[in-house]
Amino acid sequence: MSNLRAAITSLATYSPDYVLTNAELEKMVDTNDQWILERTGIQERRILKGEGLGTSYMGAKAVQALLEKSNTRPEEIDLLICATATPDFVFPSTASLIANEAGIKNAFHYDVMAACSGFIYALHTASQFIETGKYKKIIVVGADKMSSIIDYTDRATCIIFGDGAGAVLLEPTTDNTGIMDAWMRSDGAGWVHLHQKAGGSRRPPTLETVQNREHYVYQEGAVVFKHAVQGMAEACTHIMNNNNLKAEDINWLVPHQANKRIIDSTAHKMGLPDEKVMLNIQKYGNTTNATIPLCLKDYESQLKKGDNLILAAFGGGFTWGAIYVKWAYNPQ
Ligand code: COA
Repeated sequence: MSNLRAAITSLATYSPDYVLTNAELEKMVDTNDQWILERTGIQERRILKGEGLGTSYMGAKAVQALLEKSNTRPEEIDLLICATATPDFVFPSTASLIANEAGIKNAFHYDVMAACSGFIYALHTASQFIETGKYKKIIVVGADKMSSIIDYTDRATCIIFGDGAGAVLLEPTTDNTGIMDAWMRSDGAGWVHLHQKAGGSRRPPTLETVQNREHYVYQEGAVVFKHAVQGMAEACTHIMNNNNLKAEDINWLVPHQANKRIIDSTAHKMGLPDEKVMLNIQKYGNTTNATIPLCLKDYESQLKKGDNLILAAFGGGFTWGAIYVKWAYNPQ
C-alpha cells in the first residue's frame, strides 16, 4: 500500500447573520431558555433569511472563502462533493450549483446524502480519490439550510436546528499526516425514527401533505438520542482500538453537534476531559452537515501539525461513523 494520504490543508465556513435566540423561540412555541439549555446545550442558532437563497448560497460562500484563503484557483479543483440533507433542488446536485457559483469548471461534482453523518461520509469518500493518486485537490462541503425543513410550531425539533456551511480542501501528503483511518456504519431500519414524511418519490408533494406539515423533520427525539449515544461511542471505540489510541493520545474529539448531552456521553466513554472536546453547539445548534467544519474553524487556531483528532457523527438513516485525522498544519 502506498503511504499517500489525504490531508485537510485549509478550511473555511459561512454562517448567516440572523441569530435565532432561545428568547425568540419562547415567543414562538411553549418552551423556555432553561429547558433548551439543560436538555440540549443550545443558546442560539443562525438562520438564512432572504428570498430564493438555498443551501448552495451558504456552500458557495464557504468555498469562495476557502479558495481565497488557500490561494487556490477554481480551475485547480478536481472534484467537489457536497454533503447536505437540504439540497436546493431534488436535482441537479447542490455540489454543481456551488461549483458553478465558485467558478469551478475543471471538475466533477456530486452530493452525498447521509443526514447528519454526511460530512464524514463525504470526507471518507474524498480521501479514497486522493489516495489513488489520481486527484490532487478535492473540496468537501458540508452545508444545510435546516430552517427550510423545520416546523416552527414543533417545540421538540425547532429548538435544535440551525443553518450553516463549511468547506475543507483535501490534498495528497506523504508526511504521515492527514486522514489515517475511518470506520462507518449505516442501519436503514432506523429511518422510521427520523425522516421527512413527504416530498420524495414515495410520497410526492400534494396539497394534503403540505397541509399535514409532512415536509418537515419528523423525529422521535428520545429514540434518536439513545441510538446516537450508542453509535458515536461505538464508532470512536473502533477507531481508538484499530489505531492503538489511548485517551491520552487524542488531542481533540470533533463531535457532530446534535446535543451537548450526546457529546458529553461520547467524551466520557472515551475517557476524554472537556478541554479536549470541540464544542460550539451553544452558538449554532445542529447545522447537520456543517457542524464538524464549523467546529474545526472555531478551533483552527489551537490545532497543531501532528495533533490527533477524532471526527465522529451520527444521523438519520441511521448513519454513523468516525474518522481519525492527524492534523496537517500549524496555525498561520
Ligand atoms: N421545551 C419544553 N419541553 C419540551 C420541549 C421544549 N422545547 N421539547 C419537548 N419537550 C417536552 C416533551 O413534550 C416531553 O413532555 P412530556 O413528558 O409531558 O410528554 C418532555 O419535554 C420530554 O420529552 P423528550 O422528547 O423525552 O425529551 P428529551 O429529554 O429526550 O429531549 C430532545 C428532547 C429532542 C432534545 C432529545 O431527545 C434529543 O436531543 N434527541 C436527539 C436529537 C438529535 O440528535 N437529532 C439529530 C440527529 S443527529
